[in-house]
Amino acid sequence: MVVTAVATSPLPRVHTLPEHVAIIMDGNGRWAQSRGLSRQDGHRAGAENLRPVIERFGEHGVRVLTLFAFSTENWGRPRAEVEAILRLAGRVIDRDLHVFEDAGVRLCHIGDLEQLPKVLQKKIRMAVERTAGNDRMTVNLAFNYGGRADIVAAVRQLVAEGVTPEAVTEEAIAARLCTVGLPDPDLLIRTGGEHRISNFLVWQAAYCEYHFTTAYWPDFGVAEVDAALLEYSRRCRRFGLVPEDVGTDAV
Ligand code: IPE
Ligand code: IPE
Ligand code: MG
Repeated sequence: MVVTAVATSPLPRVHTLPEHVAIIMDGNGRWAQSRGLSRQDGHRAGAENLRPVIERFGEHGVRVLTLFAFSTENWGRPRAEVEAILRLAGRVIDRDLHVFEDAGVRLCHIGDLEQLPKVLQKKIRMAVERTAGNDRMTVNLAFNYGGRADIVAAVRQLVAEGVTPEAVTEEAIAARLCTVGLPDPDLLIRTGGEHRISNFLVWQAAYCEYHFTTAYWPDFGVAEVDAALLEYSRRCRRFGLVPEDVGTDAV
């Protein structure tokens, strides 16, 4: 996908591409503080960075991108900061929706929509509806998302359906998570230098590869996208098995 007419920089060839990349977009506050700016300024800069990063993953051919923008725990932040983040989410939709629509991007939302202000709920629903027919790339916005809450909701659904204990399988749980229909993430990137998943896709990320970078989210640019994908292509994913080139005779 090329959203803009002008390519930003030459695209390196990545041999093994992840189908689904998930990103914990962390470090907005520290980015701002290091510049003597307010945390809100940091969130504004972070919002500005969404479109170029989505475009770059699209140029590479990544099919699914899940972006962690607001966690269930983030409600505990100062009210002014939470309100600024909620306002920014609406503004990004107002400004960029037509761009994603035209570029074949399907926008989805994961997390609890009901807790969000009505105006934002409406905007998110409208963005999801308007892009529902697009199939070049899926961008999944995790807004008011919590990994444990996702699992609890799935288990509640199983119980409500009267599913028998024998029928509670990994597939049955996965089919009731809000990521149903999407492949599990292959690569999870966290910006901002912390080495944790902070209640992001706790079930879905069981076997994904992790890429941690010290770059704050507003500084996570095209070169960082390329570097993360190149690093991923050099990883050996074993899923508990032995690598293909290791024979069993020597055991
Ligand atoms: C990520 O940046 C954005 C959200 C969590 C909403 P932070 O706001 O967590 O920035 P730092 O980690 O404090 O620098
Ligand atoms: C994770 O970042 C949530 C998002 C990026 C939306 P946090 O800044 O909230 O996570 P912690 O507090 O460092 O674990
Ligand atoms: Mg943070």
